[in-house]
Amino acid sequence: MVGLDAIAVGQVARDIVLVVDEVPGPSRTARVRCRRELLGGKGANQAVSLAQLGARVGLLGVVGQDEVGDRLLGQARSDGIDVAPVLRREGTPSALIVDVVDAQGHWRYLEDIPRETLLTEADVAGAEDALRAARAVLVQLQQPLAAALAAARCARSADRLVVLDGAPDDPGGAAELLALADVLRADAKEAGLIFGEPPKDAETALRAGRELLGRGPSLVAVEVAGAGNAFVWPDGELFVPISETPTVDTTGAGDAFVAALTLGLLRKDPHDQTARYAVAAAGATVGHPGGRPDLTAEAIEEQLARIPGS
Ligand SMILES: Nc1ncnc2c1ncn2[C@@H]1O[C@H](COP(=O)(O)OP(=O)(O)O)[C@@H](O)[C@H]1O
Ligand SMILES: [Mg+2]
Repeated sequence: MVGLDAIAVGQVARDIVLVVDEVPGPSRTARVRCRRELLGGKGANQAVSLAQLGARVGLLGVVGQDEVGDRLLGQARSDGIDVAPVLRREGTPSALIVDVVDAQGHWRYLEDIPRETLLTEADVAGAEDALRAARAVLVQLQQPLAAALAAARCARSADRLVVLDGAPDDPGGAAELLALADVLRADAKEAGLIFGEPPKDAETALRAGRELLGRGPSLVAVEVAGAGNAFVWPDGELFVPISETPTVDTTGAGDAFVAALTLGLLRKDPHDQTARYAVAAAGATVGHPGGRPDLTAEAIEEQLARIPGS
């Protein structure tokens, strides 16, 4: 376990992606244009992104003792991910997410995420050595607050880079989580949970970022839906518009984004460069259905050239 660049803490799920022209109403049928069955879930997507970007990465999440769990772990292994920290839980099926995408790129998720496939505080305690051994710990805030807090506390106590993706849903734990974080990244909906409404433009998102910066993190990224992402750090800020790429499905783009952001920070690249790198990784993920990233060096280069103003 020694020598990992990062460990992603979060959901591991079987993803079934179905592309249809139009989602049918009741008693109607739609022909599926494209079907993909993938390793998914935000924790796994972040780990796959990191591996594709060249990081040595581990995964902490939960799958069942079922055949699906075997396949998910097999895929993660062949992606180059260290799956030793993943827990196999008896008595639960592995999580399943069905992503139904229409021709306009609107997604609907049908989720069967049994409670037992979420991480507990005890699960995190059992993985402390792995968390301490990684240079960065990415914590996905859709996991129970107690588990997210335990992971962040452990990483912070070992002086690791603590990266949070999402919005703390419990105001009681939010203050401590933010105080433990180096990085907070929120999509527009998550920023809306924190501030009451999603940021409507670059200025609002930059202001939200500055406000969050005062609560602990030293880098904050906030999305403006359909427009771009605001990045704020103590001595700078930048709004990076989204790249000019036709969107098929934004699923997983935030995971690719946060993975690239983490890697840029680990490499100690300048923050403005890291910001564009993150947006390029997101852009490289929106052109295909499903959350599984496909982050090649060429795809990133191509995306960097498609960011307006770059
Ligand atoms: N064409 C694009 N180029 C670059 N980034 C994009 C593009 N379209 C969407 N994005 C970004 O992708 C991210 C999607 O995030 P999110 O909704 O959290 O995805 P998920 O949670 O499914 O991984 C946002 O930061 C958004 O700005
Ligand atoms: Mg997201």
